Amino acid sequence: MAQTHAPVGHEKIETSNFLMIVLILLAVAVGGLVEIVPLFFQRSTTQPAEGVKPYTPLQLAGRDIYLREGCYNCHSQMIRPLRGDTLRYGPYSRAGEFVYDHPFQWGSKRTGPDLARVGGKYSDEWHRVHMTNPRDLVPESNMPAYPWLVTAQVDAASLPAHLKALRTVGVPYTDADIAGAAEAVKGKTELEALIAYLQVLGTAVK
Ligand code: HEC
Repeated sequence: MAQTHAPVGHEKIETSNFLMIVLILLAVAVGGLVEIVPLFFQRSTTQPAEGVKPYTPLQLAGRDIYLREGCYNCHSQMIRPLRGDTLRYGPYSRAGEFVYDHPFQWGSKRTGPDLARVGGKYSDEWHRVHMTNPRDLVPESNMPAYPWLVTAQVDAASLPAHLKALRTVGVPYTDADIAGAAEAVKGKTELEALIAYLQVLGTAVK
């Protein structure tokens, strides 16, 4: 019976741990770069989707509260292109919807529903009651209550610097936006800011 031999070169690789490791790393690195690098240059991932606007100062303050309170531990903001997701939450998310999110809040943990398109789904009043005590609206809810947001005031003083920082990473805020940011949120409660943020999520894309 004829014996088959692996080509010598191949045998050399398979019997040398060092060579094998180096070549695997090389293959993974090249494969990764080919997948990832084009994303930095494609319009669909670097340009805002039509209708997407930078957050207003009040929405931005609300977003900060969303991060501070750890809402992302239970809520994703990314509708996957799967039938179960799109039937429940609406059109799937596209990269261009998040170009002004630094950092984005996609996540994957869904103790609660995805919030990528929650804007406009409920009234402001619904959110006010829900954030104060979710059980008043959804008796079986295990979402925590956030009653302190009702009285806490938005930290207006920190907002101009925040807008400025976002501008350095490409969010097109004008000097006037930055100068007026503190005034725009003056006297607003954290709950008002958070609701302003929730109500804009996913509304840009029709
Ligand atoms: C411990 C997990 C948990 C955390 C933390 C949490 N939620 Fe929820 N959330 C839920 C669950 C579960 C539901 C579904 C039941 C309900 O509506 O209360 C929900 C529902 C919601 C809804 C209604 C979504 C819809 O489409 O019906 C909104 C809006 C919401 N949460 C916002 C927030 C915000 C804002 C925060 C942070 C301040 C937050 N959640 C923190 C678990 C959580």
